[in-house]
Amino acid sequence: MTSGLNANMEEPVSPNVPEITQDLFQTMTTAVAPAQRHLESGILDRVIQGDCLAVLGKLPASSVDLIVTSPPYADNRKGVYNGIAPDRYVEWFLPIAGQLQRVLKPTGSFVLNIKERAVNGERHPYVLQLTLRLREQGWLWIEEYIWHKKNCYPGRWPNRFRDAWERCLHFSRQKRFRMYQDAVMVPMGNWKVSRLRNLSETDKVRDNSQALSGFGKRVANWVGRERAYPTNVLHMATECGNKNHSATFPVALPDWFIRLFTKPGDVVLDPFMGSGTSAVACVRARRHFIGVEISATYCQQAKERIRAEQRTLRDNGHGGR
Ligand SMILES: C[S@@+](CC[C@H](N)C(=O)[O-])C[C@H]1O[C@@H](n2cnc3c(N)ncnc32)[C@H](O)[C@@H]1O
Repeated sequence: MTSGLNANMEEPVSPNVPEITQDLFQTMTTAVAPAQRHLESGILDRVIQGDCLAVLGKLPASSVDLIVTSPPYADNRKGVYNGIAPDRYVEWFLPIAGQLQRVLKPTGSFVLNIKERAVNGERHPYVLQLTLRLREQGWLWIEEYIWHKKNCYPGRWPNRFRDAWERCLHFSRQKRFRMYQDAVMVPMGNWKVSRLRNLSETDKVRDNSQALSGFGKRVANWVGRERAYPTNVLHMATECGNKNHSATFPVALPDWFIRLFTKPGDVVLDPFMGSGTSAVACVRARRHFIGVEISATYCQQAKERIRAEQRTLRDNGHGGR
């Protein structure tokens, strides 16, 4: 599947952001396309300061193409921003997820970057519990991508090794969702030379899975091709350049999911916007964004980053929004 609907088969309100009032939403007519409605309400391509649960409640239903976000990781960062105790995490997140489900288009995707912390010497199961509860809430758990942090810092723990990966859980509302797989293809690499040079007889015919999974492959199909589909492991370095927020993800991470699940002009929501990384990815990829962030300081930081990104694009002659 290269584009369009994928059937999941292998085949505070900040100074320059208008407050979203009830009146404003009531004046919107249902005949107007959702993205247009956002535009009219002045919240498209904006970072809104506030608690995302309250802000999301004011967004129109089925109006967002992709949600990509990294919420606070349990109480890891207590004192830096509102930490949520691991035992309360699921109950805290579920109402927010309910709103995310409402604002996401039926063909949209929700990507949750999260990693359970260790509590009392073992991994706390809140991410596993949350995944099960999200399924009960009606989400389909489509995939678990692994973000392999290529440059994780060295360290030693008595009972485990250093943490070099985080989950990116992919949920959708229905089996058929939009997915543009060609947009994230990767170079074939050495495999092209080594594996495809001497094809066996089996490589030349469809080889059905020995495990009777119903899947099969024909290796010869890849001869002469320059690019292949990627795996579900994303090798990306952590963000080293952003000194003003303690938990940023690299622009490359939201960018990958933005290219995979949206097309230019689509609307991407990050309800835990932090320093604005996913908005920066949207600006570069020509997608609209809606960001929500509870901290006034991070909101300001996000806005400055976004403006700088828009300026850079304009200076490079790429226009900008
Ligand atoms: C892990 S950080 C996100 C970092 C972001 N991905 C980036 O690259 O900068 C989580 C963010 O969620 C914000 N936050 C916590 N609770 C929130 C809430 N209820 N509503 C909106 N934002 C919240 C925190 O202030 C923090 O900036």
